[in-house]
Amino acid sequence: MRMVDLIHKKRSGEALNEQEIQFIVGGYTRGDIPDYQMSALLMAIYFNGMTGEEISSLTLAMAGSGEMIDLSAISGVKVDKHSTGGVGDKISLIVGPIVASLGIPVAKMSGRGLGHTGGTVDKLESIPGFQIELTKEAFFEAVNANKIAIVGQSGNLAPADKKMYALRDVTATVDSIPLIASSIMSKKIASGADAIVLDVKIGSGAFMKTVDDARVLARTMVNIGQSLNRNTIAMITDMEQPLGREIGNANEIRESIEVLRGTGDKELTEVAVSVASYMSILGKVFETFEEAQAAIRDIVANGKALETFKRFVASQGGDPNVVDHPELLPTAQYHFDVIAAKDGFVNQIDAEQIGIAAMLLGAGRAKKEDQIDYAVGLTLNKKIGDIVKAGESICTMHANRQDVAEVEAMIHEAYRIESTKPADVQLIYDVIV
Ligand code: URA
Repeated sequence: MRMVDLIHKKRSGEALNEQEIQFIVGGYTRGDIPDYQMSALLMAIYFNGMTGEEISSLTLAMAGSGEMIDLSAISGVKVDKHSTGGVGDKISLIVGPIVASLGIPVAKMSGRGLGHTGGTVDKLESIPGFQIELTKEAFFEAVNANKIAIVGQSGNLAPADKKMYALRDVTATVDSIPLIASSIMSKKIASGADAIVLDVKIGSGAFMKTVDDARVLARTMVNIGQSLNRNTIAMITDMEQPLGREIGNANEIRESIEVLRGTGDKELTEVAVSVASYMSILGKVFETFEEAQAAIRDIVANGKALETFKRFVASQGGDPNVVDHPELLPTAQYHFDVIAAKDGFVNQIDAEQIGIAAMLLGAGRAKKEDQIDYAVGLTLNKKIGDIVKAGESICTMHANRQDVAEVEAMIHEAYRIESTKPADVQLIYDVIV
């Protein structure tokens, strides 16, 4: 087989077969196929798309390029959850303890944040003592004992995807639905879950900007999951504005605790309860969404979800007292308010801009090597639809420095305040099964 012939085949609009895809992914991962040939192939895929069979073969080939985690030492149906990424997205921190309280094992590998989006692992590391690196044995033991453990992704998880993603980033081939879908699903398949709930975000802070594009991506990923015998559901949820009110690390832990206590942001709670409901259906605890939703609200109201969160934190070396004493979490030195210049209603909050503003304060990374400051971040005091009076605070900046004028200007730009009330925000646009 020669790579040049396969590029020609794909360029001509023909489908590649499983052996050809294995040859390409294996050869590229080993370094036998150079970047310039892989770039040409990615561009041909970008323009000509892929069939369902090609996408499944690509997913399996990328998953199999590194370690395939075997979770069989953990009993029960292992249900994973994945978000396509957003700003203020702390759903994993909330749904993990909820579904674990229902007896569903959560053996989760999560990523770090990059650019305007945050990462679950960074947020957890803001809890004093929390360890995100466990040996495989300790990971399995923690899940068997507490039904939940969350660790960092192994360096050898789908290395082909890592290499291809870096190449896509510099060849303008990231926003291709077959490539995004296979990239995400390869890591989920390699992580070993039996079933997967996908949270596909749309809006200003997300990869997908329209519901139609998000539906195609969601359908493509659900088809991959089903074709590889993983029961998969995709929800399409809003990322037009940040999720919840806190953006950062320690402050997102605080907000997650509030939701687990039953006193958190309403919209964030709604999305979390829905994601947890679908996870518990895939985990075969409930049959209907309504049944699941009611039980999940109970598990929050009776304190069980919060208790599970405490046990989970303690089992990974973290200080569980942060739950009742959030002041034990890192706190910023300065708090500055961003003041509304006029009366009106908040019509828009550009999630990407807000994510970048938080990153500039130090809550995120511009480059992989950057250090995070867990204490800093933003609190959105006003969200879409809220009434604002001139002089009121729309957002609070938590900072460890005083020169925040650039960040403040970005936040002003991200907020659009108009005299008319906008339509109600839709939280969940569709569910693809
Ligand atoms: N997230 C991924 O893991 N891969 C993509 O291609 C896009 C988003």
